[in-house]
This record gives sequence, C-alpha cells and structure tokens, in this order.
Amino acid sequence: MMIQLRFLPLNKLPNGVVRFHRSVSPNFQVQNPNFATTLITRVSPPSHYTTAFMGTKVSAMVLDGKSVAEDIRDKLTIEISRMKNKFSVVPGLAVILVGERKDSATYVENKKEACESVGINSYEVCLRQDCREEEILKHISRFNDDPSVHGILVQLPLPSHINDRNILNAVCIEKDVDGFHPLNIGRLAMSGREPLFVPCTPKGCIELLRRYNVNIKGKNAVVIGRSNIVGMPASLLLQREDAAVTVVHSRTKNPEEITRQADIIISAAGKPNMVTASWIKPGAVLIDVGINPVEDSTDPRGYRMVGDICYEEACKIALAITPVPGGVGPMTVAMLLLNTVTSAKRIHKCN
Ligand code: GUN
Repeated sequence: MMIQLRFLPLNKLPNGVVRFHRSVSPNFQVQNPNFATTLITRVSPPSHYTTAFMGTKVSAMVLDGKSVAEDIRDKLTIEISRMKNKFSVVPGLAVILVGERKDSATYVENKKEACESVGINSYEVCLRQDCREEEILKHISRFNDDPSVHGILVQLPLPSHINDRNILNAVCIEKDVDGFHPLNIGRLAMSGREPLFVPCTPKGCIELLRRYNVNIKGKNAVVIGRSNIVGMPASLLLQREDAAVTVVHSRTKNPEEITRQADIIISAAGKPNMVTASWIKPGAVLIDVGINPVEDSTDPRGYRMVGDICYEEACKIALAITPVPGGVGPMTVAMLLLNTVTSAKRIHKCN
C-alpha cells in the first residue's frame, strides 16, 4: 500500500496539526528539522498514518505550488492595498499576445485573472499571427513610456517570422518582469551583479525549494532542458545558490546516467513522462516544469496534463516532488505578480 502524503509549507499548517518526523535520505541536510523530513498528521493520527511508520511505503512529499502561490498572492494583495493607500500607486502589467496559439492564450488569460485577483491593473494587446515586427515594437515602445505600466510581458513563443531578439531587446529593463532582456540575463550569469528581474518559472522553482527548506548549497543539481525561458536561467539560479549544476539536453549522450546522480532535478524538457524510475536517485527532490497534454479518454476534454517526470514511478523513489498541475505552474504566475509589484515599488520609490 502506498500512502500519498501532502506536505504543507511551514506557514500553512491548519490549527491543531502537529508534525511527526520520519527519517530521510542522508543526501539531504535538512536545515529546519520541522520540515523536509516531516509528516503532517493530526494530534491523534488515523490508523493508516501509523502504519506508514510501521513498514508501509510512504510516498514522496508533495511540493504544493498551488498552496505556496496562494500564500504569496495573499501577501501581495495586502501589499498592493498598502501601496494604493499610502502612495496612490497601483501596479500595472502589460501583456502582448501574438497569434492564436491556444496554450499561449490560456497562459495570458491566467496571468490577467491573477493580476485582477490581487489588485494589479492589466493591459492586453492581442495581435494577429501575421502581424509585422514593427507593430509589436510600437506597442512595446508605448508601454515603455506609459507611467501606469510597471511590467511588460510578450508571451512566447512568437510566430517564426518575428525576430524575438529584437522584441526582447526593446523592453526597457526596468519593466522587464519576465527577466528575459539580455542585460538582466547577463547580470544573472555574473557573480557580483544583480539582475533587476529573474525569470518567473526558474524563480518559482527556487522559491518552492526555499519554502520547503530544501538545502541547495553543495548539492548535485541536474537541469533537463536548456531553453532561454527555463533551463538556462534555472541552471544560473542554482549556481547562484551554490549547487553543482549539470545541464542535460537533447544532444546529451547519457542523460539517464547523469540525471541519476542528482540530488535535485529541475526538468523542463517538454516530453511527457520522460524521466522514469531509472533516472532518479532515491531521496532526490524533483521539480517538474513540464506541462504536456496526453490523450485520456476518461477525461471529458479527451486529454490531461502530465509533467516530464513519470509521477507514479517517481513518487515511490523521491523525497519530494511537484505535482502537475499544481506545482510549478502557479508559482510562475505568483512570481510574475511579485516581479510586477517589485517593479512598481522600485519605479515609484515606495517602501
Ligand atoms: N512562454 C512560456 N513561459 C513564458 C514566460 O514565463 N514568459 C513569457 N513571456 N512567455 C512564456
């Protein structure tokens, strides 16, 4: 029997809940003994929890991105209200969507709804698939000059006839809440330099590890994928946290063997269920960035979303794992809101 335990970060424990400890992989030096190694249960634990200690296999802890993101959004709502009352400043995010990709339209819709829910003003421009590069640049320039806009996001990928380097270069770095401007990425890569913004998905991955007190320093981390949006900045961020980082990508000769050495895996390959049991070291912490549709006739939509990591296999081996959905996705959105609020505070000098 496999028991799935849902672990909450420290600030989310409901009243009357205590924690019982279980042993963990020696690979992990747990900074806060209240956390990574702990099991949450009631004061009088139900019998099946007790059996978890008596030989029944305990499944990996779930790194609950949805819950952490909610906490971040709650705090941002309060902060935005304070900014409004004290400084008459309302953060604003401008989003540019080009083309008719359904996934991009959904992401943009989620971002807009999230802005609304915390009190950030959002501005949206939707352009046709065949629009000219100059048209996108015109809107970016307008948003660069607009004092009510503190963050500018151009949803990627762009249609193939658009040169995305020209587009990303055009966003002024003080409003580059995606952190994709080469100056921000360059600063992220250099020690002793601070980017104005860190890309939202990798930032969300590290924040999730931090909230669950997973120690990164000195650990072997493997990043699967080398995209500009996730893989590359995730590897830079992990290095800044003093991990020993290896990047595995589509041309890597022995990805399985390399990944099996990792204490921490961040997977952003975009390949459903690619990381199976044999890729995973027992006790590893797994962050799954993949959101891949797979056919599922039992789902009313005819498909469901799965990650890059085969959850059913991984949860029997790993110390901790992010679910898909409900792991990294909500953290990405929360980091975008946070970057937008940080930007508004920096521009208007309200602290
Ligand atoms: N497409 C996929 N992820 C992202 C993201 O974080 N930002 C933007 N702008 N586009 C994306």
